[in-house]
Amino acid sequence: MEALVIRGGRPLMGTVEISGAKNAALPILAATMVRGGRYVLRNCPAITDVELAAEIIRALGGQVERAGRTLYVDTADACGWQIPSSLMARMRASVLFLGALLARFGRVSLTMPGGCPLGRRPIDLHLEAMARMGASVTLREEEILCTASHLHGGTVEFPFPSVGATENALLAATAACGTVILRGAAREPEIGCLIGFLRSMGAEIEGAGTDTLTVHGQAALDGTTYTILPDRIETATYLCAAAACGGDVTLTAADGSLLLPVLEALAQAGCHIETGRDRITLRSGGRLRAAHNLTTAPYPGFPTDAQAPMMAVLLRAEGESRLTETVFEGRMAHVAQLRKFGADIAVTGPTALIRGVTRLHPAHAEAGDLRAAAALVLAALQAEGESTILGLKHLDRGYDNLEGNLKRLGAEITRIDN
Ligand code: UD1
Repeated sequence: MEALVIRGGRPLMGTVEISGAKNAALPILAATMVRGGRYVLRNCPAITDVELAAEIIRALGGQVERAGRTLYVDTADACGWQIPSSLMARMRASVLFLGALLARFGRVSLTMPGGCPLGRRPIDLHLEAMARMGASVTLREEEILCTASHLHGGTVEFPFPSVGATENALLAATAACGTVILRGAAREPEIGCLIGFLRSMGAEIEGAGTDTLTVHGQAALDGTTYTILPDRIETATYLCAAAACGGDVTLTAADGSLLLPVLEALAQAGCHIETGRDRITLRSGGRLRAAHNLTTAPYPGFPTDAQAPMMAVLLRAEGESRLTETVFEGRMAHVAQLRKFGADIAVTGPTALIRGVTRLHPAHAEAGDLRAAAALVLAALQAEGESTILGLKHLDRGYDNLEGNLKRLGAEITRIDN
């Protein structure tokens, strides 16, 4: 099993180039199945979730080739509409092929998606959106079969702004006979990126960036070339690393306007932050001030995906910090692992109370999900001495070359196979 060995206690200095966003690349890869064609996706991160989405496209009969950060996708001959359960089980975003295959073939067979264990993660909102456009959904043991002789226009009201359900509804709506209005839609920037991609295919969609999206279905669609926006959660992770360890780090190809609540929280904790057109510089003296009340929320709120990395920053911050998770019910599994480093964290319901300690000690910890893995790396970078982090399959799902980038910043970090 692979592990990261980290000798912490060093400040981070230097520059890192931010990758394309995982959470935009995944729905866009699903979108290439909406219409057979050739697609060129620039700035596509080299992470295992993207490789898995490519495997799904190949399993459906399409082709995907990588050259550096560019993916060449050809879905012209893809005719599969049944997603193998072995692939469904490996990633939550595999469910995004639901709307795409329904739009293309009028039928899709899949099983429940896997992904990070963040508590109950149903797909009822995805299926209800398909049903509102006229699809019938049949549940047969493990299989979910969704069919529609044709999809029709109408209004889909989301009771909660689910990112994935909004994306699935957008994908299916491109094939609807008529206009589909999505109300209460999620507003995450990655959805804006998906809409940009669909528009560059020829789709007619209005309302990007708002909670009401209007899709005029059955526009003529074609292959396209598109560039994926920067990963705001990867950006937040490196900012948190620099904040926690102290130092002076510049992130290039980054967009600070996509993560204002994270920048604000780090500034309030005592970091000096400068943002430029496509770069962010953070300087930190190492020991920060506590954050009194941070609560995760759908965009434009504090991102749930940055909750665990931010918790790692607050472990040594002076005073008591309060972090409340409202998006996922089971997203505190990293707390038990962070305590192994000497962190003082009490959890009551969805809220973690973090009492800052003066120093962390090295530990042997294991990540159970992607952002928890990042938080453990950040804790190890702060602990003087040698720590070992297991559970790297989670880290590799979402970070392109994390240890290479941290090494460039001066961290002592090595991957071993023990
Ligand atoms: C996406 C992101 C993930 C991020 C999350 C919230 C991708 C590939 N993943 O995940 O990184 O943490 O948004 O910003 O983009 N829910 C239901 N029923 C549904 C769908 C969702 O109850 O049918 C609930 C979920 O259990 C959760 C909440 O809604 O409590 C938010 O989930 P959602 O926005 O759908 O997240 P994902 O699209 O899975």
